[in-house]
Parts: sequence; C-alpha cells; structure tokens
Amino acid sequence: MIKAKKLYLETFGCQMNVSDSEKIVTLMKGMGYGQTQEPGEADLVLLNTCSIRATAEQRMYGHLGKFKSMKKKRPELIIGVGGCVAQQEGEELLKKAPFVDLVFGTHNLHLLQKMVAGAEAGKKSVATDFLDDEKRFDLFPHAETEGGVTRFVTVMQGCDNFCAYCIVPHVRGREISRSADKVVEEVAALAAAGVTEVTLLGQNVNSYGFKEDAAPDFAELLFRVAEVDGIERLRFTTSHPKDISARLIDCFAQIPKLAPHIHLPAQSGSDEVLKRMNRGYTRADYLAKVRALEEACPGIQITGDMIVGFPGEDEAAFRETMALIEEVRYADLFSFIYSPRPGTKAAGFPDEVTRKEKQGRLELLQAAQKRITLERNQSLVGSVQRVLVEGASSSGDSLFGRTGGNRGTVLHGDLALAGRIVEVRITEGLQTLLKGEVVHA
Ligand code: 5AD
Ligand code: SF4
Repeated sequence: MIKAKKLYLETFGCQMNVSDSEKIVTLMKGMGYGQTQEPGEADLVLLNTCSIRATAEQRMYGHLGKFKSMKKKRPELIIGVGGCVAQQEGEELLKKAPFVDLVFGTHNLHLLQKMVAGAEAGKKSVATDFLDDEKRFDLFPHAETEGGVTRFVTVMQGCDNFCAYCIVPHVRGREISRSADKVVEEVAALAAAGVTEVTLLGQNVNSYGFKEDAAPDFAELLFRVAEVDGIERLRFTTSHPKDISARLIDCFAQIPKLAPHIHLPAQSGSDEVLKRMNRGYTRADYLAKVRALEEACPGIQITGDMIVGFPGEDEAAFRETMALIEEVRYADLFSFIYSPRPGTKAAGFPDEVTRKEKQGRLELLQAAQKRITLERNQSLVGSVQRVLVEGASSSGDSLFGRTGGNRGTVLHGDLALAGRIVEVRITEGLQTLLKGEVVHA
C-alpha cells in the first residue's frame, strides 16, 4: 500500500495568510498531501509567515529551528517557507536556514506545486517575483468550497498607501483588485456549498476598483455580493479611514445582510503623529467617519488598531490616543508597540522614546480598552442579538457563534443550529465573550 503523504502547515499573521493557507491546503491536496496536525508525521512542512512586526518574524525563525533537527533525522522531510518573510528575504532565507527546500513569496502560490515536485526530486527553489496582474488571482484553483459556516473571499491584494511604519506594500506589492464577476462567482459557489457568511478580504478593501477602469467601487461590489442567495451575512476587512466613502457608509443602512461591524484602524489619536505616519486623515476626519457610521447603523461595533511609541510620539500625543479610545469606545482594539521594519520610511526616523516608556504606554492603553470592552459587553445584557452559530464551543458542551457586531457568543442549543442565524438574548457580558439563550431559532 502506498503511504499517503502528509502536510504540516503553520500559519502566522493576518487573515490574508489564513486565506492563502486554505489555498495551499487545496493545492497540496492536488498533489496527494493530506493535512496533519503532527509535525512528527509530516513529509512536507510549510510555514506561511508574517513580517508585520519584528516579533512575528523572530517567532517564525524560532519555529523554523524546531524543524532543523527534524530534518537532520529525516533528510527526506521537505521544508518550505512562504508568505511575507519569504517575500522579504528571498534567497537570503536559504542562507540563514540552509535546511529549507523552498521559499515562495506572496505572489507565487501558483508555482507551489511545481516547487514541491522539484523538492521531492531533491531540488531547492526560490520564487519571489511580483505578478502585478489581475490574472494572479485565478492562476490556480481557489480553496475548496466544501463545508464551513463562514469563509473569506479575497477581493483585492496589496497596498499603495505606504504608511511610514508598514512593511505590507513592500511584501505584498501594489494594490490590485479582482474582477467583480469572479468575486460574485466564488461567493455563489460557497453559498451553494452551504456557507452562510462571507468576509470580503483585502489590505484596504475601501479602495477596491480604484485603479481598474471598468471595475465597480466597493459599495457596488457589496450590493452585488449581497444579492447572492444563501449568503445571509456579509462582512469586510480591512478598511482605511481615508478611503471609506459616504456611499460605503450608506451600505450599512441599505444592505440588511451587511453585519453591523467595521474594523477601522486609527493607529494614533494625534494629528502630528498621523501626519508622520502618512495616514492621510486627521483625528477630526476619523471621528467624523465614526459618527457617520453610527448614524447609518445605530449600535455598530467598531474595532481598531493602534500603535504606541511611533518615533516622536511624546506624552501629549499619547494622551490624545488615550482620549480617542474613550471617545470612540471601541468594541475591541488591537494595540502594538511600534516596531521598525526594514525598508520603511519610519525606520529612518529618530526615535527617542525608551522601550520602557513604550511598554508603559501600551499597558495604560490596554488597561483602558479592557475596561471599555467589558463595559460594552455588559451593556449588551438583555438585548436580543442575531447570532450566526459556527459550531460547538471550545468546552464542547455549548455552541459558539458571533453576533452581527462580531462579538463571540456562547449559547446552549443543538449542534444542528450550526450555519443558522438565531436570535439570542444576551444574559452575561464577560471580558472576551457574551453568553446568551436562544429566544428564536
Ligand atoms: N509596528 C507596529 N505595529 C504595526 N502595524 C503595522 N506595522 C507595524 C509596525 N511596524 C500594526 C498596525 C496595523 C496592524 C495590522 O499592525 O496597527 O493596522
Ligand atoms: Fe500597511 Fe497602511 Fe497599507 Fe494598511 S494601509 S497595509 S497600514 S501601508
């Protein structure tokens, strides 16, 4: 009997990597690789990497070390690195980690089968060329459509914004949008396979179609996707505050399937810092968009990202960030200490704030947000939320789902409810989740 080949895949970083990893699984399945969660029994190890902050990159090298000894014992083990670190390092990665067999960049998934076949025959390869063409989205089969309650659908990739701190434009290349017909086609196929919710994905979905002459704008794309029968809930991520149009804000009032949640990263509350970050909006512009969203969609849950310790952020600037989170009252906030990235503009900025001060600011920000999140979760107690049931909860004795506002919710009920939107009365608001009871299934 021929032993089935096994793939061990680890994914770091953002949803774009999660989505690419789904495609990798499908591509490798096409070559006879089934997936395993046990690195020890793998014939092929692939790491899909992230380089957004130095810590993410270091973590990936740490992980890679683990596989080095494995490869010593089993030289036939194939090791591949993809994603943003692979894109950034290219050939260098083979020098730093000579036990690696293949390095594939963010635009090179379509070459992966060929590269793995080469590695099976003992040949190392590196592919990191950018392919700035819409064709790249459809050069290989998309992730299998089978199963799942909620799925990502890529609508655009890359970024042209060059925020001063950010490596994404350097490792994901120029912004490029996928044809609306292809997006709708994929969503329809997912709906036919039983998927209830899709999240339209891109580094900056708000600028969807900006560069493509005949493409509709993102608002129009949302209307088209919302028409797909079987899809009951629609989300999108990520949004750039400078590009969110009045037409897009109005979608929250016009499209009932559009979930009342938006991830709208501010990055800082200080105009002076925002300017040096090259964000293209002021604190007042940002707040005006927040108010317009709340008007179009009362109760909308807004989440965000914030960076502390950007070069030149003084105490006063930090206090403005603290004040902004109190004003917006984010449902949740992801906050980070600024990490200089090679090749970005801010990497050359003088930075006088000490590590200790930055750590202190992060702690203050996170403590304040923790309180706001808890208060917001508690304020939902007694309300009835539409929860999309995703499956069993982690403890196994209840169900887990998400409200329209994207709050994780635990409830009791039959597993047969998975994939359905049910009305749930919220009974408890905890720090990281809500608890509730089904009032209408
Ligand atoms: N340092 C710290 N945080 C960063 N982010 C992006 N680049 C950096 C960096 N160099 C954060 C931003 C972004 C999120 C995905 O990661 O807040 O929105
Ligand atoms: Fe990075 Fe700015 Fe592009 Fe977002 S918009 S991916 S933060 S450069």
